[in-house]
Amino acid sequence: MHTKENSCCCSFEDYKMTTEWLLNQTNHRPKVAVICGSALGLLADGATNKQTFRYQDIPNFPVSTVPGHEGCLVFGTIEDTSCVFMKGHFHLCEGYSLCQVTFPVRIFKLMGVECLLVTNASGGICPDFKVGDIMIIKDHINLPGFAGQHPLCGPNDERFGIRFPCMSDAYSKDLRTLVLDVGSELNCSRFIRTGVYCMVSGPNFETIAEARMLLTLGCDSVGKTRGDRRMCFCLSDVTR
Ligand SMILES: *[C@@H]1O[C@H](CO)[C@@H](O)[C@H](O)[C@H]1NC(C)=O
Ligand SMILES: *[C@@H]1O[C@H](CO)[C@@H](O)[C@H](O)[C@H]1NC(C)=O
Ligand SMILES: *[C@@H]1O[C@H](CO)[C@@H](O)[C@H](O)[C@H]1NC(C)=O
Repeated sequence: MHTKENSCCCSFEDYKMTTEWLLNQTNHRPKVAVICGSALGLLADGATNKQTFRYQDIPNFPVSTVPGHEGCLVFGTIEDTSCVFMKGHFHLCEGYSLCQVTFPVRIFKLMGVECLLVTNASGGICPDFKVGDIMIIKDHINLPGFAGQHPLCGPNDERFGIRFPCMSDAYSKDLRTLVLDVGSELNCSRFIRTGVYCMVSGPNFETIAEARMLLTLGCDSVGKTRGDRRMCFCLSDVTR
């Protein structure tokens, strides 16, 4: 259910203060933000001129509760483009509210970020997928959202966007085409797929019946939880 804490963990002033604090500490003015999925923190390693902030040192920032889970924001430059990387993210099933989970995204927006890349280790459901394939998200199904667990529930602040956002083009077609083109140049096409990502709350992995339901609903991959996204079922059981 949509709870009070989901809708108002922070005021616009809190978001602004955190943004201003960060922009005061760094000369980077990122245009691209990357949320690094589990084990994908290395995406930040290729950046130059890096500056790192631990989540616990950033005012208002949620702090990872999981021991040994790295949590830092890395600013850096990749080919003249200023970027910010989130190493370590927050999951609903660890006890964060959706407001906390999405807090960094609003900070990115206020910083002037124009392009957000989200990456994950997630579970393949589409029977054509192989372990290790990379799926470009073309659309998603927000299952918890159907039941009122949605970060946009609660009073709307127009400074972040309109009340009833259109979702028919949530994932940029141009960026998807770019990834496919670059993948093809790098001869990676055989393991790059396009598909629909399904968000579930976790923490348990899906039962076989649930995975079968997600397949029927048109999902190609599913994710929510931290750690390696092992397959806990055989695809043959799901498609049977
Ligand atoms: C940012 O720097 C300005 C100028 O030094 C200062 O007035 C302001 O309080 C700082 N803001 C934060 C949130 O640290
Ligand atoms: C991709 O494959 C083509 C044809 O085999 C080859 O000419 C090209 O050098 C390869 N490109 C990369 C980036 O490996
Ligand atoms: C996948 O990434 C999204 C957005 O960064 C995050 O909310 C979700 O928890 C991640 N899921 C997994 C399985 O890592």
